[in-house]
Amino acid sequence: MAYNLLKGKKGIIFGALNEQSIAWKVAQRAVQEGAEIVLTNSPLALRMGELNNLAAECNAPVIAADVTSNEDITNLFTKTMEHFGGGVDFILHSIGMSINVRKGISYTENNYDFTHKGLDISALSLHRVLQTAMKMDAINEWGSVLALTYIAAQRVFPNYNDMADNKAYLESIARNFGYYYGVQKKVRINTVSQSPTRTTAGAGVKGFDGFISYAEKMSPLGNATADDCADYCVSLFSDLTKMVTMQNLFHDGGFSFSGVSQAVIEQMEK
Ligand SMILES: NC(=O)c1ccc[n+]([C@@H]2O[C@H](COP(=O)([O-])OP(=O)(O)OC[C@H]3O[C@@H](n4cnc5c(N)ncnc54)[C@H](O)[C@@H]3O)[C@@H](O)[C@H]2O)c1
Repeated sequence: MAYNLLKGKKGIIFGALNEQSIAWKVAQRAVQEGAEIVLTNSPLALRMGELNNLAAECNAPVIAADVTSNEDITNLFTKTMEHFGGGVDFILHSIGMSINVRKGISYTENNYDFTHKGLDISALSLHRVLQTAMKMDAINEWGSVLALTYIAAQRVFPNYNDMADNKAYLESIARNFGYYYGVQKKVRINTVSQSPTRTTAGAGVKGFDGFISYAEKMSPLGNATADDCADYCVSLFSDLTKMVTMQNLFHDGGFSFSGVSQAVIEQMEK
């Protein structure tokens, strides 16, 4: 069901790779709610070609940008502002990558070149996007910026590896930039801490199936799906949540505040 929550709003969606991507679902949902969007991903991701299907469905231009490049991000905002004839009202940062995870290098043995690259892509990119937007005055007053994160920023999940540190840094950037952008232009910035979800990035984490079923058993409402996440993101882009900023918002069926569940106790007693 659509409520026209984003009617007249314009936004940029980073990170839709394929139909499983959380960003893919957010893009579809935002358009259903009346938004106009620009889609962006790295040149490598664009070569995979799937994003063109989403672009056609959403009637959205695709602009390539590697989030580690200032030049690419500047070009993205320039072209987006030309396309819309002005600034944007919302941005979704749905980007994560760790070479240490991909190569199966354990946390204690991390290769620091890989760590730097992962941090740049997964966390510093949010600062880069916000700094560029601020310089170019690319986000309208009361605009809403969201970045996706995971609870490994607060608690230890061994196989999440250096992505845990990347997420902690990402959440801190959202909080700190949220202060400055709020004061300067009433732009709000939050992170959404999502349940484990079957996507390309998710599946890269060792033992992911165990992760997902443990979280499912621990959460009173069960795991939140990518579609549920899209609904939540749309509400956070809407004017209905305009006083929410600098928060890390758990979207996880209650996982984050559950000590143990009956289902897990029973499993342990077997
Ligand atoms: N899947 C999960 O279990 C889960 C849980 C909580 C949070 N998240 C977060 O959700 C976000 C989206 O991940 P997803 O699970 O939808 O997986 P995904 O693999 O579909 O999305 C990750 C995206 O990051 C993009 N990306 C990687 N390097 C890039 C670069 N240099 N420049 C631009 N884009 C780049 C990829 O192309 C891809 O589109 C990530 O931040 C992830 O950490 C995922």
